[in-house]
Amino acid sequence: MALLTQTPYKQRAFDLHGLQGISDHTLEVHFGLYAGYVKNTNLLNEQLVEMCTGGQTASPAYAELTRRLGFEYNGMVLHEWYFGNLTSQTTGGEISSSSDLGRALGESFGDLETWKKDFTAVGAMRGVGWAVTYLDPATGRLSNHWITLHEDGNIAGFKPIIVMDVWEHAFLLDYKPAERPKYIEAFLANLDAGTAEARLTGKEDRPVG
Ligand SMILES: [Fe+2]
Repeated sequence: MALLTQTPYKQRAFDLHGLQGISDHTLEVHFGLYAGYVKNTNLLNEQLVEMCTGGQTASPAYAELTRRLGFEYNGMVLHEWYFGNLTSQTTGGEISSSSDLGRALGESFGDLETWKKDFTAVGAMRGVGWAVTYLDPATGRLSNHWITLHEDGNIAGFKPIIVMDVWEHAFLLDYKPAERPKYIEAFLANLDAGTAEARLTGKEDRPVG
């Protein structure tokens, strides 16, 4: 159980209008969904604290709500990593192979193009979830992972560096269901390479409200 008893988690605001290939309307709807995860995470925390203090921890309801917390909490946090690594500024741009991030991806995947191919393939997998390039802080190695829903596939202790939402709500207002590859291209065109690099080098973390 998470004991966030004093301060509810605060929703973070993101200014992302004017992205290429991801409409403002999609973002508006998406921010609303993110707000739902913040609300539900706070609500679950409150309920769990109440049940804990009320001695109801042996109940099936406590177990189910505790499991649900993983879904809502990861849903909230992954959206913050996702919105946080998008930018409509031209300063975002492509990952340069000579940057710290480009070099680290090259070392882990052989070259930058192989990372991109793999990340795109992971994102194009059938199913609902996320494609995430994670850093293993213990080894410095980067690896791509598929996350089913929000909570199945995240590696404990790994740091998200590049996070892409591939739930259909992330693109269905702009593309047909079968056009996920076009959305993935749009995501990569709007990727804030500077932010991803700052995550890698420890200069930046998840944005919080
Ligand atoms: Fe989403």
